[in-house]
Amino acid sequence: MPQKNDTTSKRKKEHIELCLTDKVEFKKKTSGFKNYDFKHFALTEVDLTNISFETKFFKKKINYPFLISCMTGGSSEAENINARLADVANQLNVILGVGSQRQALEDKNYHRSYKIIREKAPDIPVLGNIGAAQLVKIKSIDPFKKLIDMVEADAMVVHLNPLQELLQPEGEIEFTGLRKKIVKLVKELRVPIIVKEVGSGISKEAAKILLESGVKGIDVAGSGGTSWAGVELLRSKKNNDEIFWDWGLPTSYCIKEVSSLKKKYNFILIGSGGINSAMDMSKAFALGSDITASA
Ligand SMILES: Cc1cc2nc3c(=O)[nH]c(=O)nc-3n(C[C@H](O)[C@H](O)[C@H](O)COP(=O)(O)O)c2cc1C
Repeated sequence: MPQKNDTTSKRKKEHIELCLTDKVEFKKKTSGFKNYDFKHFALTEVDLTNISFETKFFKKKINYPFLISCMTGGSSEAENINARLADVANQLNVILGVGSQRQALEDKNYHRSYKIIREKAPDIPVLGNIGAAQLVKIKSIDPFKKLIDMVEADAMVVHLNPLQELLQPEGEIEFTGLRKKIVKLVKELRVPIIVKEVGSGISKEAAKILLESGVKGIDVAGSGGTSWAGVELLRSKKNNDEIFWDWGLPTSYCIKEVSSLKKKYNFILIGSGGINSAMDMSKAFALGSDITASA
């Protein structure tokens, strides 16, 4: 029987390999940005030589409203990838998300694959990351405090990925008590909590519950980019379940819906899922995102 930690590292490796070698994007559904266009306004009085993209992300100043989405950690390959991502993020002074730190809870073998990020990028905002499936199991949040210290995280991300877990051969599909655990994290961690999806999108209804729970950031991670149902179907070679490949809420729809909650709640809205160009980013901002992200 393989050890659990070996299994987690192996899975991380397979995810990266598949994303590099296979077609893992949504097949029919798009992010929806193509359905929008800008209304040209010729009578501008803006000094076009003097546009700054600088903004704030919680307490830190960043040069561009951009986040490199949470991707990897917890395997031998991850150290090199995270070192390079951290280098780039540091040079541009943008935000960097760490991949799921679940593996770091299991053993210390690959702690360096996460810690390398702060060595390479001491000043940028860095986001810790853990899955809902792990969160529901914990009794005390102390291990999560260690995950924050490990990367000196400026915020902690919880990823919601029920479809991915369902289609993953070794997936964990017990989410009872999740909302209470999110409230516990909000109350007991010293950094803000951001909640994201991984490509199926966060609806207005889900976002409202999260914001009522004290969450300070929502990353919609909608449909139109990487399909994690697709990745897991490729891993398990269960092509007969293709019905789920295109499951989810398009990114542009999620951004528009969730941004309407800004009238009542104070939070950072991250638009992601199929953001592939500066034009996608511009449309995501026009629809209400504060920051855009891409994996
Ligand atoms: C190789 C890879 C690994 C990923 N691992 C994680 C992860 O550990 N935690 C997480 O929250 N999201 C993870 N994601 C999901 C992304 O953060 C993102 O939400 C999703 O891929 C949709 O964005 P995209 O269309 O820009 O790829 C991963 C994505 C990729 C490509």
